[in-house]
Amino acid sequence: MATRRRALRTLTIDIGGTGIKMIPLNAKGVAVGERVRELTPHPSKPDAVLAVIEPMLRAQKAYDRVSVGFPGVVKQGVVSTAPNLGNKAWRGFDLQTAIETLAGKPTRVINDAELQGYGVIEGKGVEIVLTFGTGLGTALYVDGRLVPNLELGHHPLRKGKTYEDLVRDDVLARIGKKRWRKRVALILATLAPIFNYDRLYIGGGNARRIRDPLPPGVERFDNVEGMEGGVALWGDANR
Ligand code: BGC
Repeated sequence: MATRRRALRTLTIDIGGTGIKMIPLNAKGVAVGERVRELTPHPSKPDAVLAVIEPMLRAQKAYDRVSVGFPGVVKQGVVSTAPNLGNKAWRGFDLQTAIETLAGKPTRVINDAELQGYGVIEGKGVEIVLTFGTGLGTALYVDGRLVPNLELGHHPLRKGKTYEDLVRDDVLARIGKKRWRKRVALILATLAPIFNYDRLYIGGGNARRIRDPLPPGVERFDNVEGMEGGVALWGDANR
């Protein structure tokens, strides 16, 4: 008797400055289980982060491969920067191999905003993704192809302060919603005539704090939609 094969499952992990989230996806990139979340340990050195991920992996049902979004620059699975996780200890850390070893499954790691963007882009024209959370994540796609490691968040915008300095989560807590929203509006107004994008997507934990109506061509997405980008990593050669 033929045994029924379980459909391909991609476990997606989002490592954030505040939380570490996991969600299983089917072959189409649709969530097939609950999103679970644990707090990111502080200090957030590689060993401490992996110590949180390990039991989370063990608690998951069977999966075939792992996609990881990391809050910094990642090249071929190796971390170059991690501004919101203490940076230093992460530089040169081969996160892809580390998680592949823990999970015992093929693993791919890219930047967190880039992974989330794959979950929402249409794949046509110039599309930009901004994630407003602990830091400011940015990603750029041209006809669905990623332009890797665009770190707009670290570009100085005003009085020597970077985009991220102006709108990061701890700044929102300090300056309040009203001033923060003005800064977000400044960022959107600055980017529009530079990138002439077809669509810009806003995600991250603070996306819901931005007031409607959003400017033309701008849409909001939630964290689950973003994490559904985990499947796209396996079909895109431009990592
Ligand atoms: C990092 C980005 C990351 C963003 C959101 C920034 O500080 O430089 O790589 O996408 O935070 O986590």
